[in-house]
This record gives sequence, C-alpha cells and structure tokens, in this order.
Amino acid sequence: MGKVLEKNSVSANEKENKKKVFIKTFGCQMNVNDSERIKGILKNLGYEFTNDWKEADLILLNTCTVREKPDRKVLAHIGEYKKVKEFNPNAKIGVCGCLAQRMGEELNRRAGGVIDIMFSSYNIHHLPQLLEKAEKGEKAIEILPEPPKDEWEMFEYPTIRENPYWAYITIMKGCDKDCTYCIVPQTRGKERSRPIRSILQEIKDLVKDGVKEIHLLGQNVTAWGKDFENPIPFSYLLYKIAEIDGVERIRFTTGYPTDLTDDVIKAMGEIPQIADALHLPFQSGSNRILKLMHRYYTKEEYLEKVYKLKEVKPNIAMSADVIVGFPGETEEDFLETLDVLEKVRFEQLFSFKYSPRPGTPAAEYPDQVPDDVKTERMHRLLEVQKRIMNEEAKKYEGRIVYPLFERYSDGKLIGRSSENKWVEVKTDRKDLLGKIVPVKVNRASVYVLYGDIVES
Ligand code: 5AD
Ligand code: SF4
Repeated sequence: MGKVLEKNSVSANEKENKKKVFIKTFGCQMNVNDSERIKGILKNLGYEFTNDWKEADLILLNTCTVREKPDRKVLAHIGEYKKVKEFNPNAKIGVCGCLAQRMGEELNRRAGGVIDIMFSSYNIHHLPQLLEKAEKGEKAIEILPEPPKDEWEMFEYPTIRENPYWAYITIMKGCDKDCTYCIVPQTRGKERSRPIRSILQEIKDLVKDGVKEIHLLGQNVTAWGKDFENPIPFSYLLYKIAEIDGVERIRFTTGYPTDLTDDVIKAMGEIPQIADALHLPFQSGSNRILKLMHRYYTKEEYLEKVYKLKEVKPNIAMSADVIVGFPGETEEDFLETLDVLEKVRFEQLFSFKYSPRPGTPAAEYPDQVPDDVKTERMHRLLEVQKRIMNEEAKKYEGRIVYPLFERYSDGKLIGRSSENKWVEVKTDRKDLLGKIVPVKVNRASVYVLYGDIVES
C-alpha cells in the first residue's frame, strides 16, 4: 500500500483549510462499498466529510439506475444540491456510479449543465486527476466504454467505513448474465474477478484494523474465479478466507442460483464462520417467466438449492429479490411466485414492481403489465410475506443467537446475528462491543430480537 502512504502526506496548509465533501449514495451494497473507497481516496487528498451538503466544497452523488425510481431520485437531488453554487461559487458537483455510466454527458445536459465531475464504478481511482481538472474550471467527465486496464488499482486505497467491526469487500465486478430486465451489464460491464491475493490482503489489513465480519460483494459473487486464465472455484476462496486468523464471520452477496454449486453448499456447511443467512434472488416462481427473463434455472431447481442449503445449515435464514409484473406475467404465473414464498419461507424479501429499463430486451416486450395490476399483485405478495415473517420470527423466542455487537446507544447493545437479524440487549456491558456474544432471545419481532446475554 506504498502508494497510499505517499498520497497521505497532506501539507500543514491543507490541513488548516480542509475542503469538505458531502457524499450521497444510492443503490446497492456495491455502491456503498464504492463510496467507502471514494472516501478513502478523498481522505488521502485531505478532504473532510460533512453530512450537510450546504457547507460542502464537493458534493458527490453515487448513483443507481436499476429501476426508474432511483433515476428520478438522482435528478431530483441534483436539482436541490446545485443550489450550493449560490452560496459557494467554487463548489463542485460530481456524479458517479451507474446512472453516470448509463447516461454520460446526457445526464449533465438533463441536469442543466451543473455537473463538474463525472465518472463511474470503472474509474473511481481516477478521481484525483478529475478533481484537479475540475479545480481548473474545466469539465472533468470521464465515462469509459469499458473498465480500464488499471481498474484494480482502486483497491490500493483503503476504504473509510461507518462501522469498525464489519466490512464490505468487493471480490468481483460486472455480470455476464443476460437477464432481459436488467441494466447492470450495461453499467458495470463484463464479469471481472478480483485477484485472490488482493482480496486476501485487504481482509488481512481489515482484520488488523479490528474487523471481525467480512461481507464479500459482487453482482454475482458465486461466479468468482471463473474468468481467470486458470479458473478457481468460489468455494476455494471461502476456505482461504476462513483460514485468516481473526475472521469470525463471513457473508457473501449476491449469489446466482445455478452458480451456487454443490461445492459452495458443502463449504457453507463446513466453514463455521459462514453466516446462517443467504440472499439468493429467485425473481419469479413461474418457469415460463424465468425463461422470458433469461434466468437459467427452474422453480424446482431453485427450491432444490434451498433444500440442500437447509440440509447443511438447518437454521439458515433465506432472503431474496423478486420482481412482480414482468411483461407477460399472468395471474397463474404470479401464484407460482407466491408458492415459492410459502415453500422457502424467506425471512426477508426485497420485492420490486417490474420497471422497464432503456435498452433492455424486456422493455420492448409487447405484453407489459398495467401498473394497477402490478400494484395489486405487490400488495398481495407483501401480505403473504408479512404473515410468513411474523410466523418465522416466533421461532427465535427462547433460542440462543450470536450477534456481533456493533453499536451501543440508549443503554443498549445492538448487533446483527448470524441469521442477519438485529439483536438488542439492555445492558451496560460496553466492553462487549465488537464481540460475538451468545444472547437468549426473550421476544422476537419481525426485524428485531430482544434478549439477554448468556453468561458463561
Ligand atoms: N425492474 C424491477 N426490478 C428490477 N431489478 C433489477 N432490474 C429490475 C427491473 N428492471 C431487481 C432484481 C434485482 C434487484 C437488485 O433489483 O430483483 O435482483
Ligand atoms: Fe443500482 Fe445495479 Fe448499479 Fe447497484 S449495480 S447501483 S443496483 S444499477
């Protein structure tokens, strides 16, 4: 990490007049991790962070374009933040991430020309040069058609994280699937696996820094290693990470059902640090719709994976993404989706109304589902899911769970259990922060388990 140390040298003068940056992040965990990396870069440049955009010298929006709603949100926020130039004419507005990649210069035109800096998830590490250009009053817009050769250099900058005890680690970027509804391959490119040495090194550095739980990230983490000249299975990476002293818990998001192969399931059963939780999107329960979505599995194959997972990890808490109202979805198709909910009994479900994305095949499909039908199905789906989550929550009462305590506030320790449930304990034991501790659950609500520490 020599590069970073070199960049760390901030002059005394800079220290006194530190510039302030306000960062607003939209979208998925990959974007959150990218923003953490951007913060690392900006810290090295001597920036201070602020939560008040009105006092910022640099406002940076890390954007998402997965559905139409985030697109609209980003434009609305730019509309608001551009007012910063009224009271600080030197302030710069930067836009990065997926919407920047998708729209490029067009986004700046739509925003009334107020954007000074633009880049995407490909070239985060070019930010220092882009800022330099913007400081000279030039437009610093760098939207590359594909990731640059030096892409992995961005990992030489350490991330700045909100929480000291757990950390995201991007292990791959992009996606090679061709889901007909999805914009991601356009915004994040082809699958690129991060070299294993770079991943293991970052984890070792994080552990030294006090991190106990690591959360591997990628659009399709289960495909990690496939694109290497000599492919390496994802399960191998899991075993190597588990060998690192100090790694107490491992999570990974997002998996693709067909890439969740038997060796990965076996590793999940064998590696004690792997959390009792898995996010495995199924998108639809109808085989006809799955085919139209270009999802390469059937409902039965998806369920088979879940049953296998439950065999090796009987307490596993499943979560998933599902889309309602994909073009051509009939009532019968929708009932198949509800059937998956009943069979898997997800403890968390992220459900989305289908949103046509420009340039994706499904946006051109003729039989788009009317919005009122999508809304009505969504309501029914949420009702079913609410009931299941209430029923599933009850099973925690009387059980012992193992949260990693990450916060102390209002006389309570708060942490996430292996099953990814929030756990709250009334106690003055602040010394247990950053530790995985057994807790007996007295009361379980859908989102929070309340309990007492089990004294050994
Ligand atoms: N419309 C609705 N939901 C979508 N997702 C991705 N693209 C779309 C779209 N066009 C959902 C999928 C994915 C999650 C991140 O967002 O469920 O897993
Ligand atoms: Fe949004 Fe997808 Fe980009 Fe994440 S990868 S920010 S979900 S468009």
